[in-house]
Amino acid sequence: MKTTIRTLFNKKEKGQKITMISTYDYLSAKLCEQVGIDCILVGDSLGMVFQGKDSTLEVTVEEMIYHTKAVRRGAKESFVIADMPFMSYQVSVEKAVENCGRLIKEGGANAVKLEGGEEIADLVYKLVSIGIPVVGHLGFTPQKINTIGGYRVVGREEEAERVKKDFKILEEAGAFMIVLEAMPTELAKELTESARSITIGIGAGPYCHGQVLVFYDLVGLVEDIKPKFVRRYLNSAELFRKALEEFKRDVESGSFPSEEESYG
Ligand code: KIV
Repeated sequence: MKTTIRTLFNKKEKGQKITMISTYDYLSAKLCEQVGIDCILVGDSLGMVFQGKDSTLEVTVEEMIYHTKAVRRGAKESFVIADMPFMSYQVSVEKAVENCGRLIKEGGANAVKLEGGEEIADLVYKLVSIGIPVVGHLGFTPQKINTIGGYRVVGREEEAERVKKDFKILEEAGAFMIVLEAMPTELAKELTESARSITIGIGAGPYCHGQVLVFYDLVGLVEDIKPKFVRRYLNSAELFRKALEEFKRDVESGSFPSEEESYG
């Protein structure tokens, strides 16, 4: 059964938690759909996790379309959200609408995700009014890494008021879901308790309506960085290494391929 915005709000209304995975490829998306993950985010974290870059800033619209198409092929019934990359929605509302439209039309996404608050309110309103559902993103917003001054919790002390204001503005502009990243638990709780939208946390404590993790973090393929909020459910890097070592050994010893693995 197709997941829709209605399905997601039904879960929220019943007090059921919403699950979201950020991933970028056909096979992992297929696994997410098989186990009933509610939403798949094609996150621009792919710039770091998939491409090995230092930040998300270089990711392009073309790359997002490419990965969103792959995810959609693997997860035909899922609710797919495409991240809008840095500078694809900041230049002008016209340019932004065109780029967001491409992710829906060409990528096959159901919704787009934009980072920011007040500064993107007009755009959010415009997108929603023409039929493009919008997911907001507050707290630590990786596309502002250079102004935020590195990875850190956002929303402590006087910063909390700014986050609360932005949250309200995004909801008023029409965002149906808001990702809360790296923010104090109490702030995320307060926002969630009075939210009209659906809140999805990542490093924002347990009170959000749902939680998101990056697939490659969750399965333990990312080894270099482990933020406090990541729970690794598998040590797949170790399993992959073992498999590769065995393959290497088998080829070098001549035991692969066997007769059964060869054509007669
Ligand atoms: O890009 C991404 O994967 C994200 C999630 C971590 C929320 O924005």
